[in-house]
Amino acid sequence: MNLNKLKKKAAWAALDYIRPGTIVGVGTGTTVFYFIEALSTKKHLIYGAVSSSNASTILLKKQGIEVFNLKNFSSLNIYVDSADEINHQMQMIKGGGGALTREKIIAAMSRKFVCIVDKSKKVDFLGKFPLPIEIIPMAFSYILKEMIKIGGIPKHRKGFITDDGNIIIDVYNLCIKDPISMERKINSLPGVVTVGLFASRSADIILMGTNKGIKTIKNK
Ligand code: 5RP
Repeated sequence: MNLNKLKKKAAWAALDYIRPGTIVGVGTGTTVFYFIEALSTKKHLIYGAVSSSNASTILLKKQGIEVFNLKNFSSLNIYVDSADEINHQMQMIKGGGGALTREKIIAAMSRKFVCIVDKSKKVDFLGKFPLPIEIIPMAFSYILKEMIKIGGIPKHRKGFITDDGNIIIDVYNLCIKDPISMERKINSLPGVVTVGLFASRSADIILMGTNKGIKTIKNK
């Protein structure tokens, strides 16, 4: 089965976790595109959504789902999003779509993070997928130098500006053995807005589309 079909299956499986009357945190990307389609079938049951990107906001509104401003909420019941890579500890690399900062805010404030992925996203070690870092533009050369120091090959994501007006550096050539300490280290560099390592706040449930159906993995 092709990966898009597996993404779609995972996205629809997430509907089982949506309770009536809730505000649903919604991620960004091609898998989430399918989730938004699925969510529209429950739009009369839910209260609405908060969105992690302008792109997802447009899709949600197109489906007739009300989108609330995140700044008016301090917690949410559920966040549904995908990942670029996810390991056995349910830690992730995210930000392939460039929405990592808003995604990390929603993940942090949500009681349950449901990660919807196709089977290709599961890895033993994070880092084969280039690690995205959103930075303030003036820190560009400094962050490049710091990433080379840790063995990475940093590349500017050319022509891309985040929803919050910043730039992204993608760091290649990493094999991340200790995701929590790397997340802390990169986040502590001046000029870094967010690193796309979701290690301290990992997923609670993975719904993984496989050729044999949905594999559900829960955090112990
Ligand atoms: C966007 C993300 C996405 O979750 C990640 O890139 C996976 O995307 P897709 O569903 O298109 O494979 O982090 O910033």
